[in-house]
Amino acid sequence: MSRSTTVTIDGPASSGKTVVGKLVSKHLNYRFLDTGSMYRAITREALKKEINLDDDIALSQLAIDTDIKLIPQDISGLVLVNGKKLLHELRNPDIDKSVSQVSSVSGVRTALVKRQRMVCEEGEIVVVGRDIGTVVLPDARTKIYLTASLEIRARRRHDESTSQGGRFDTKNIFEKLRKRDLIDSTRENSPLRPADDAVIIDTDNLSIEEVADIIVDLVGTS
Ligand code: DC
Repeated sequence: MSRSTTVTIDGPASSGKTVVGKLVSKHLNYRFLDTGSMYRAITREALKKEINLDDDIALSQLAIDTDIKLIPQDISGLVLVNGKKLLHELRNPDIDKSVSQVSSVSGVRTALVKRQRMVCEEGEIVVVGRDIGTVVLPDARTKIYLTASLEIRARRRHDESTSQGGRFDTKNIFEKLRKRDLIDSTRENSPLRPADDAVIIDTDNLSIEEVADIIVDLVGTS
């Protein structure tokens, strides 16, 4: 695959990666892959099977054994887990709470990174996650890292949750995001950080459309 056909978008929780990534893929007519959904799918399986989340070996084996298929043509983020279609089931407070711990396990990451690379080899794609520009696709030509202040991200998460009918306390959301940021950026394996050659975009004062336009322009010039 040519390097120019891959756009990587990394960043912390609620930085807007997924919504921006979908829009960019639509503009460019590229496929879309949200790698967070794979870590969420393994976390869901682990909770369902009541696997001890401190048991790295069991979690790694689970990641190897679980058949996860992503449907990159379908930008809703649909995932097939052992043949079952999952979408909203991957976004709930129990998974939110445990996914950082599960995704910090080396064996889980090794299994999922391998699958992500296989999907990406099939052609033009926008890939979003935490380690795409640094680990999964270090040779990608267009690498983006989205940032936003914790306050703005907590507000976005709050608005998103309430629009889905939930009732959440902003302070609680803020604390949970802070905790996830800390785990994601300090873990030993593939910590969240921008690649040296990533373009960093601060999205605090930008709309989704504005961020997507900046990225599409960058793809055109890189
Ligand atoms: O983007 P998200 O909130 O759906 O990601 C869920 C979790 O998965 C997050 O805590 C970090 C982890 N993750 C990761 O470690 N590496 C990725 N490439 C994508 C997500």
